[in-house]
Amino acid sequence: MPHREVVRKLREDFMKGTLSESDVNKDPALQFDSWMSNAIESKIPEAQAMVLSTVSEDGKPSSRIVYLREFENGNFWFYGHYHSKKAMQMDKNNNICLNFFWPDLERQIRIEGTVTKANPSMADEYFRNRPYESQIGAWSSSQSNVLSSRKELEDNVEANRKKFDGKEIARPEFWGGFVLKANYYEFWQGRKNRLHDRIAYTLENNIWKINRLAP
Ligand SMILES: Cc1cc2nc3c(=O)[nH]c(=O)nc-3n(C[C@H](O)[C@H](O)[C@H](O)COP(=O)(O)O)c2cc1C
Repeated sequence: MPHREVVRKLREDFMKGTLSESDVNKDPALQFDSWMSNAIESKIPEAQAMVLSTVSEDGKPSSRIVYLREFENGNFWFYGHYHSKKAMQMDKNNNICLNFFWPDLERQIRIEGTVTKANPSMADEYFRNRPYESQIGAWSSSQSNVLSSRKELEDNVEANRKKFDGKEIARPEFWGGFVLKANYYEFWQGRKNRLHDRIAYTLENNIWKINRLAP
């Protein structure tokens, strides 16, 4: 069967779980904690990988995968280059969205909020604990800039290997963390016949309001 036809006919029924207003924690940060803990226990590959969506100053959206590296009390940390496309967009428009999809659990989580740059001392510590070659990589890549060739990147890496010569590498100022403060969550559990469960949390006068959404 031609692959286009296969794609058109691919159809999974979701049967693994249910989610109801009475199951969920009143605090969405704790609900996230509980689902992330299930994902880790279930050995979901790349459970920490999430889609990060940003929007440019003139309203054009852009998405890419990044790794979640820390979360606490409705704050979610990730790292990257401060001159990258995503960083530029977050600088101009601080509304962003994260999305996790864990097919083996038939779950999706959407988290919306506002972003700021993370505390430099936290980024220093995270950078210090990265593998040496990733530290060299951070120094060697002007993330999102056009390269003339793969060789240009590899030459930068080689030059930095020589420069640092096995010595301790400090975090470059152009690389660091971002932290999203959540103002909206949605927990999605796949159900049979596309009648999925969707539980949304919105912040109203500092109180989380829980609603069920139509699938
Ligand atoms: C599994 C996976 C994890 C990634 N983790 C990160 C990350 O934590 N930080 C990051 O800057 N880019 C990460 N990337 C690369 C980004 O998807 C993206 O290519 C890069 O950040 C440049 O995006 P931008 O040009 O929109 O800024 C990851 C990609 C994949 C597929």
